[in-house]
Amino acid sequence: MTPIDELSEADAKREIKSLSMEIRIADAQYYADDNPVLDDADYDRLRQRLIALETAFPQFIVKDSPTQTVGTKTSSKFGKIKHSLPMLSLDNAFSDADVSEFAARIKRFLSLPDDAGIAFTAEPKIDGLSASLRYEKGELISGATRGDGQVGEDITANLRTLGDVPKRLKGRGWPDVLEVRGEVYIALDDFTAMNMRQEKHGKPAYKNPRNAAAGSLRQIDPAVTASRPLRLFAYAWGELSAPLAQTQYEAVKVLSEWGFQINQDMKLCSGPSEMINHYNDILQRRAALGYDIDGVVYKVDDLALQERLGFVSRAPRWAVAHKFPAEKAITTVELIDVQVGRTGALTPVARLTPVNVGGVLVSNATLHNEDEINRLKIREGDQVEIQRAGDVIPQVLRVIGDTEGRVDDYMLPLNCPICGADALRDVDEKTGRVDVVRRCTNGLSCPAQAIEGLKHFVSRRAFDIDGLGEKQIELFYHKDWVKEPADIFSLNFEAIAKLEGFGDTSAANLKAAIDGAREIDFDRVLYALGIRHIGQGNAKLIAGHYLTWEAFYSAITAADIGTDSYAELMSIDGVGPGQVQALRQFFGGAANQAVILNLLNHITIIDAEAPSLDSLVAGKTVVFTGKLERMSRDEAKARAQSLGAKVSGSVSKKTNILIAGPGAGSKLKKAQELGIETLTEDEWLTLIR
Ligand code: IVH
Repeated sequence: MTPIDELSEADAKREIKSLSMEIRIADAQYYADDNPVLDDADYDRLRQRLIALETAFPQFIVKDSPTQTVGTKTSSKFGKIKHSLPMLSLDNAFSDADVSEFAARIKRFLSLPDDAGIAFTAEPKIDGLSASLRYEKGELISGATRGDGQVGEDITANLRTLGDVPKRLKGRGWPDVLEVRGEVYIALDDFTAMNMRQEKHGKPAYKNPRNAAAGSLRQIDPAVTASRPLRLFAYAWGELSAPLAQTQYEAVKVLSEWGFQINQDMKLCSGPSEMINHYNDILQRRAALGYDIDGVVYKVDDLALQERLGFVSRAPRWAVAHKFPAEKAITTVELIDVQVGRTGALTPVARLTPVNVGGVLVSNATLHNEDEINRLKIREGDQVEIQRAGDVIPQVLRVIGDTEGRVDDYMLPLNCPICGADALRDVDEKTGRVDVVRRCTNGLSCPAQAIEGLKHFVSRRAFDIDGLGEKQIELFYHKDWVKEPADIFSLNFEAIAKLEGFGDTSAANLKAAIDGAREIDFDRVLYALGIRHIGQGNAKLIAGHYLTWEAFYSAITAADIGTDSYAELMSIDGVGPGQVQALRQFFGGAANQAVILNLLNHITIIDAEAPSLDSLVAGKTVVFTGKLERMSRDEAKARAQSLGAKVSGSVSKKTNILIAGPGAGSKLKKAQELGIETLTEDEWLTLIR
């Protein structure tokens, strides 16, 4: 071996390349085939040589060098499992006041007096990955990741290797069908030991226990997963053929009798003050728990009340995550950069000297907009305090030191840094106020907007095309292969196979992933288009209302203000003037219509399902008026919607049923004039029982 200081740049580059290749092959054989060709000592020598070379010639380090990627080969080829009940997320609370408001909101929804006592469980929020385990007649039959909440990945073989996952339930009394949900995590001691082993083998350390757990769970070879110290706390359930208990607390206890680990810090509380006490107690003991947590979860204890409370889009009304205060750190702003997003927004970004913030390495923070920069009076080279909370983008809180005398003169470029078109701050026609956001005015003709739009289009909650990530989209865009969504469906895979880094197998995999996305749910298509203000939640609500793309499309292209189509759109729960305006603007544009038309040539849109077709009120439009005596207006509305009814605020020809309580006035009169069926609250409850 040539000593490193005698190597020319060209030699070093060549050797780095060939060593990387050799190590990658060895890794693949080790992880995937379980048939290592190199013994440990030889393998270590290769890695050490590579590290030494990369240290001397850092200009040749590539992002996917074996020294930069943790030595885990994860697969994108797991099968899919559709969750029989969605796996939900949680809303957050950040202060004691938020917790009190959470309890008060629940009482309002249930129409209970302010002084009514409601019990809650309080337990640590584990910072891991959730998994769902399905048991039939006591036998573990499948296990899945959360995925997008509706469909997860089939990781049954890997989950089976966890000691905390019973292969057969213990005890007795379990229902024939039992889906147990919980959090997979790695304890801190085990994590430290894992990283010591990594270091010994010259491999980079895992960033944090959560990442290590995620990588370990998605191994191709279950034997690798088995060698990792994964654990599981059970805290929830999905489908059940019989109820577990009457309360959350008892249900979780019974899971422990059947062989699951449950968290010892779950406590039954009588209301907000006990909940907050328990939160403070756990926060104080956080460092001694032995595993990472990022808050405390409160759940209504009475399962019958949980049932009545139900869900809002992706989170239950009966639970909340009380997050711990954000982690902070101090570092230096090396550069203020400008990024152009999917909607054309120019966002200033602080490039930071990388710093560890609560277990995660942070090297970028958003500065939001030019007003924010002027408020902070921040300049390149400044020392700043930053904060990171949960999954949100890190933020700059303040400049350390004196900013006195600095003038508010920061301005974003007046031209888009990517395409050069004018970048303007909109003026609100009604209020005359200038928008805080400066946007590139070039629409999809701006490469940044087009590329960001395409990345969004293929992302997990949209078309979910594996193997078509940010890098590939950029590459295909610059090659003029993919300029708009439709192009994805007519790619030339022979040409792709010839690209560096591809080959026949990846091209074939990509083709399969794209073909798999040709049949797609209505709400995903709508979300994928990347329309402003249309997120996953309201895309689902809109799809659930119109059921077919055709019905929606004819409504939106005829939705001038004042028309019935407009009123109908506005009547959808969760859709307001902002959404309707954005939808009309998007579908009104000739260029967008062409993009959609082209796309429709390649895909089949699956109609949305009315939430429950066997209920008598599914598909009916109902209006509540007057005072309801059995439940709050919100609960009545949520229940009607969960049965597939559409709830509208005003009576029109389209109304099917009016539910009128005491004090009903003009709406009742109008319904009678139109000959619409009118029910009392009790008659309505009998109808839907
Ligand atoms: S309950 C119906 N309990 O937090 C609510 N979730 O932000 C289902 N998590 O996806 C979740 N610890 O992965 C619940 N004690 C706990 C939890 C917990 C961690 C995770 C879970 C969930 C996420 C929501």
